[in-house]
Amino acid sequence: MDLLLLEKTLLALFIAMVLAIIISKLRGKRFKLPPGPLPVPVFGNWLQVGDDLNHRNLTDMAKKFGDIFLLRMGQRNLVAVSSPELAKEVLHTQGVEFGSRTRNVVFDIFTGKGQDMVFTVYGEHWRKMRRIMTVPFFTNKVVLQNKAGWEDEAARVVEDLKKNPEASTTGVVIRRRLQLMMYNNMYRIMFNRRFESEDDPLFVKLKTLNAERSRLSQSFEYNYGDFIPILRPFLRGYLKVCKDVKERRLQLFKEHFIDERKKLASTKAMDNESLKCAMDHILDAQKKGEINEDNVLYIVENINVAAIETTLWSIEWGIAELVNHPEIQKKLRHEIDTVLGPGVQVTESEIQNLPYLQAVVKETLRLRMAIPLLVPHMNLHDAKLNGYDIPAESKILVNAWRLANNPSHWKRPEEFRPERFLEEESNVEASGNDFRYLPFGVGRRSCPGIILALPIIGITLGRLVQNFELLPSPGQSKIDTSEKAGQFSLQILKHSTVVAKPRSFQV
Ligand code: HEM
Repeated sequence: MDLLLLEKTLLALFIAMVLAIIISKLRGKRFKLPPGPLPVPVFGNWLQVGDDLNHRNLTDMAKKFGDIFLLRMGQRNLVAVSSPELAKEVLHTQGVEFGSRTRNVVFDIFTGKGQDMVFTVYGEHWRKMRRIMTVPFFTNKVVLQNKAGWEDEAARVVEDLKKNPEASTTGVVIRRRLQLMMYNNMYRIMFNRRFESEDDPLFVKLKTLNAERSRLSQSFEYNYGDFIPILRPFLRGYLKVCKDVKERRLQLFKEHFIDERKKLASTKAMDNESLKCAMDHILDAQKKGEINEDNVLYIVENINVAAIETTLWSIEWGIAELVNHPEIQKKLRHEIDTVLGPGVQVTESEIQNLPYLQAVVKETLRLRMAIPLLVPHMNLHDAKLNGYDIPAESKILVNAWRLANNPSHWKRPEEFRPERFLEEESNVEASGNDFRYLPFGVGRRSCPGIILALPIIGITLGRLVQNFELLPSPGQSKIDTSEKAGQFSLQILKHSTVVAKPRSFQV
């Protein structure tokens, strides 16, 4: 059976090679493609460049081929852009033309072929989903209604760390507790629910399935079947696991959260706007027939990955940098003590009075950008970029990490130095007012969650630093900051153990 499959695959490969040669000859005449390594039939550049197309490898290629280059990955075109001017062209000037999303075999499974918001093509469906999600998630009102909740969750993290004798001696993986905090922050907004402890069985189930979804979709392992469709039969096992995880995950969202909320809404009058959680608004849109039940599920799916993981990774990176730079940690603590008074806890509304804290957050997002290539963009139709032809349905990667770490544009970018955002880069904001610094993207497909992410990161890092001295575990001089990159994500490779020594405040 397998031999037959192999024989068929080889034959198909041969035919595809001949076809690819003919097509590339015909296309070569028509298109002026961006520079890049010479592709070979069928495989394109895949065998040369490999699977690991992370921000650093793409940066090395940009140094060789220029700020725009094209890789032919099997049957897919990948265009990487690495200059502020080209980022502006893709995200702003030609924001409509390049405003779609590429999907791939795995994301197609997890998003029901784009029934969600994050991974859907630019068009009516996306506009509707973005509009429907804005009121319940992405406005100042949401911040006002939820900031006390974020402060409460951060206070509980501080309390739990203080109660745990290991935290101040051998150290603990603070990330585990922060993960619970982030779930609570987002599940309070979404469903007005929280999980009591890290051992809550529902929380454990949820985070395990989300982690599986993340691992399966961010892995480079499935590239071959995605790039070269005739190899897809070999991916059958992988895709089956994806489908299984997707089913179990959506079932969990439905049974334990969405249906619960529906039940509650049917027993209580939900006309008091201020008591509504995000899901009530989303269910209203479903009732009005604007979206269907699957769309509701995929909104929950999107928030689980887009909101929780990105923010958690950024907090984790921030802690790692603060531990590795005790002088910066001390300076931050001093700012908080001086501005608020010793022991007075950081709140959302005080962040505006804490410029160094804001600079620490910005610098974390610059050097350790959670989504360093943005979420891949795509042009639905043939397009032009910098005088080059970009074939329809190319995957466009904006190397935002390179933009923010290019030594020609930044002073000593490899250093973690928050001061830059108070000195030579004091006008640069995370919201995209400068095309060298786009941790949340900019333009139509930019991150609407920035309005929640920045205060949550600020409150959390601020409270940790004002209540504890954060140190590497005994015997270590630094935290290991090796990176783990995915299709478009950047996490810390090892979840480090950190010692959190409580400070005492004599008033
Ligand atoms: C530190 C935390 C976060 C970072 C670094 C981040 C970064 C990003 C980036 C780079 C994009 C893609 C921009 C583009 O493709 O041009 C994005 C999209 C998105 N983010 Fe975030 N994000 C964060 C937190 C959040 C939060 C808290 C939420 C929700 C509450 C959220 C919801 C979304 C959504 C829905 C999109 C898709 C927008 C669209 O396609 O129209 N993100 N984010």
